[in-house]
Amino acid sequence: MAKNMEDIVNHLKNSGFVFQGSEIYGGLANSWDYGPLGTELKNKLKKMWWDYFIKKNSLNVGLDSSIILNSKVWEASGHIAGFNDPLIDCKNCRSRWRADKLIEDFDSKIIIGNMSNADMEMFIKKNNIKCPKCEKNDFTEIRQFGLMFKTSQGVLENENSRVYLRPETAQGIFINFKNTQRSLRKKLPFGIGQIGKSFRNEITPGNFIFRTREFEQMELEFFYNPNDDKDWFKYWLDQVTDFLDKKVELKKENYRIHEIDKKDLAHYSNRTCDIEFNFLFGWGELWGIAHRGNFDLNVHQKSSGEDLTYLDPISNTKILPNIIEPSVGVERLILAIITQAYEEEQIENNNYRIVMKFPYALAPYQIAVMPLQKQQNDVAKELFNNLIQDFDVTFDETGNIGKRYRRQDAIGTPFVITCDFETENDNSVTIRNRDTMHQERIKISSLKEYFSSKF
Ligand code: GAP
Repeated sequence: MAKNMEDIVNHLKNSGFVFQGSEIYGGLANSWDYGPLGTELKNKLKKMWWDYFIKKNSLNVGLDSSIILNSKVWEASGHIAGFNDPLIDCKNCRSRWRADKLIEDFDSKIIIGNMSNADMEMFIKKNNIKCPKCEKNDFTEIRQFGLMFKTSQGVLENENSRVYLRPETAQGIFINFKNTQRSLRKKLPFGIGQIGKSFRNEITPGNFIFRTREFEQMELEFFYNPNDDKDWFKYWLDQVTDFLDKKVELKKENYRIHEIDKKDLAHYSNRTCDIEFNFLFGWGELWGIAHRGNFDLNVHQKSSGEDLTYLDPISNTKILPNIIEPSVGVERLILAIITQAYEEEQIENNNYRIVMKFPYALAPYQIAVMPLQKQQNDVAKELFNNLIQDFDVTFDETGNIGKRYRRQDAIGTPFVITCDFETENDNSVTIRNRDTMHQERIKISSLKEYFSSKF
C-alpha cells in the first residue's frame, strides 16, 4: 500500500504524536504541537544528536545561548539586510510569488545574486515571464519581505527597543566563540554545538512539519586553523552520514548528497552540501553542511570591535579560524524518520496493520507490558514496575490482545511482553517482536539481560 501524507498526518494525530497547533480555536496556520509520543521521539532524537556530536566526540562542547540577541548581531551577520525575499504580486489573480524564483524557473543559468529589485522587475517584464497561476504578465513592484520575527524589549515600542527572534542558533555560537575558547582553554580545532528553537516568518511554510515558522535546530560550528590541511569539510560530511546510517538508521536509498552550485551559495558560504531526503512530496533539504570560511568571526570582530582572533601557539600568530557548519532541523529529521518508519502491511485474514518501524533507540516506548486477562494484572504490574527502572515501558490492559498488539505496532513499540495463564506456573512470559511478529517464551529472571542486549 502506498503511503500518503494525509494518512500519516491523521495517524500521528490519532496516536498522540503531533496535533494541530491551537486546534480548539480553529488552529494557527502551519503550527504543530507535539503530543506525549511525539515529545518522546523528539527528545530521544535530540539526545542521540547530543551524544554523538557533543558528548562522544572529544573535539566538541555544548552551548545554550539566548533566543533574543542584541540586534547588532543580526546587522553584522547580514540577516537584517539580506534575510528577506523579493516578493511580487500578480495584479490579475492576486497570487504572490518570489521574483527571484520566477526568474530562476524561467532561466536557471541567470545569476540573480547581483540583480537589484529594479533589474528583476525589468527582466520579468522584458522576457514576458508569466504568472504561473493565471499566465498573465502583469505584476506589481517588488517588495522586500523580512523573514525575521520582530518584537520589542522593555516598555517602549520603537526603533531602539526592536529585537528579533533568532532565525538560526548559529549566531549565538559565533558570538560566544571567544568566551568558550578562553574559559575552557580550548585549542583549535574544536566545535561548539547547540540545540534550540529558531523562528522564520516563512512565506511558503508547509508540507506538514517540513517547513514551519517555529522550529528547532541542531547546529554544530566547528572552528579550525586555516593552515590545518585536514579536510574538515569531508570529515563532518562523513560524520553526518555515519550518524544517519548507524544511529538514525536511514536507508541509503532514501537520502542523497547534493553539492550546491557555486552561484546558489548563501552569502556566507564557500561550499555547501545538502543532504536531501526523499520525502513523500519529493526530494527536499534535510541537513546542510556549509564551509563558512572566517566570514562570521570576521564580521562580528569588525562590528563589535572585540578581538576574536586565536593565538596559534605554534606560529605565535593571531588567526581567525575557519568554520564548518553541519546544521539540521529537528522536525525535518523527525519527518524523515516517520516517513521511512510508517508502513501499512497486509497481515493474516485480509487484515492490515499500521506499523512504525522506528530504530529501537528512537521508539517512544521500548517495551509494552500486557496482562492477557484481568487475572494477570498483578504479575504484569509488578513486571512493569521492575522494568521501568531500566527501560521505557508502557502498560496496556484495555481491549483484546490482538487490538493491543496493533496499537503498539502503530506507535512503534519494538517489544510486547504478555503475561498469561502459564506465567505464574513457569515464571515465563511471551515476547512479541514488532517487525517479525514472531513470539518467544522467556523466563522473567532473564528479561533484563534479554532487553539489555537489544537496546
Ligand atoms: N545556520 C545555518 C542555517 O540555518 P539553513 O539551511 O537555513 O542554514 C539549516 O537551515 C537547517 O534547518 C535546514 O537544513 C533544515 O533542516 C532546518 N530548517 C531551516 N528552515 C526551516 C523551517 N522553516 N522549518 C523547519 N526546518 C527548517
